[in-house]
Amino acid sequence: MTPLDGTHDRTGARSPLEPAAADFRDDAMAGLRSTPKRLSPKYFYDTEGSQLFDAICELPEYYVTRTELSILEAEAGAIASRLAAGGPCRVVEPGAGSGTKTRLLLRALGPERCVDYVPVDIAGEHLERTAVELRAELPWLRVTPFAADFSLELPLPGDRARARTVVYFPGSTIGNFDPADAERLLGRFREAAGPDGLVLLGVDLKKDPAELHAAYNDARGVTARFNKNVLRRMNVELGTDFDLDAFHHYAFYAPAHGRIEMHLVSVRRQEVRLGGEVFTFEDGESICTERSYKYDLATAERLGRSAGLALVDSWRDAERRFAVLLFRAPAPA
Ligand SMILES: C[S@@+](CC[C@H](N)C(=O)[O-])C[C@H]1O[C@@H](n2cnc3c(N)ncnc32)[C@H](O)[C@@H]1O
Repeated sequence: MTPLDGTHDRTGARSPLEPAAADFRDDAMAGLRSTPKRLSPKYFYDTEGSQLFDAICELPEYYVTRTELSILEAEAGAIASRLAAGGPCRVVEPGAGSGTKTRLLLRALGPERCVDYVPVDIAGEHLERTAVELRAELPWLRVTPFAADFSLELPLPGDRARARTVVYFPGSTIGNFDPADAERLLGRFREAAGPDGLVLLGVDLKKDPAELHAAYNDARGVTARFNKNVLRRMNVELGTDFDLDAFHHYAFYAPAHGRIEMHLVSVRRQEVRLGGEVFTFEDGESICTERSYKYDLATAERLGRSAGLALVDSWRDAERRFAVLLFRAPAPA
């Protein structure tokens, strides 16, 4: 767990406070050895990847952010009342990124109902920028950012007894986890929230596959750049020799699995070196870089229940593209 204190490198180099490069290398080697080849989507997010993700959120095709924001704009008051029903709360956000939606929520909670905000993200530099902005925008709020991999640990500073913990997980990031992993992750969020704690979850809903397809295949090619950023990052940080022009962005919706799959497809037979090992790509062979599961409300509720959480309330936009679900952990025995 790495608290950010504003002392690390601001030169644009990789922050020494970010999760170890050795983990990235080990995971990348394991992913490239596997069949089919895979890389975890968490490695998209260095500073450049985080900025590209923010650019995706502005795209006309990417309805996800716009829709989730519209739900919060309409319902932040109602959601805040639920979160702070028993007294003030503290909000912990795994994968906070730029905290765009969180601002609406924190504003709706206000100083009387929110004592702490703990954003956690793997992209330390970007996270620190978010924390600086938030402190300026909401001077009453104590912001304690942590650079950490939330799938391994969820830092929880402060006194649990002082305020109810709300784990806020927007952005449909839960969709990046296969169902069994998503259940385990929500179970960890339940433990982090503690008895009677809350988990507020954003889920992208199943819809017309053409709309889903467009969202991950934007006309300006920003998603393609985001996808290829993981190869660029590997070249810079791990010394690989990926030819970025020799891989194509390929994303599609697989209805049988209810998920978008994002791949980088090799345009020819080629070899790439990493850590003294040579990895061969056949012509047309792909690396799967992301899966994004789409839910319906009943399946999302079941997922929460199997992680020991009870659904308290849910909010959707009028077109039913996206849902925000509020779950509660069991009360103390
Ligand atoms: C899809 S973006 C969502 C950002 C933001 N929560 C939102 O709703 O706009 C995912 C965020 O989670 C972060 N992230 C992804 N995997 C992570 C991990 N394992 N540990 C910590 N942060 C992670 C990324 O750096 C990125 O900021």
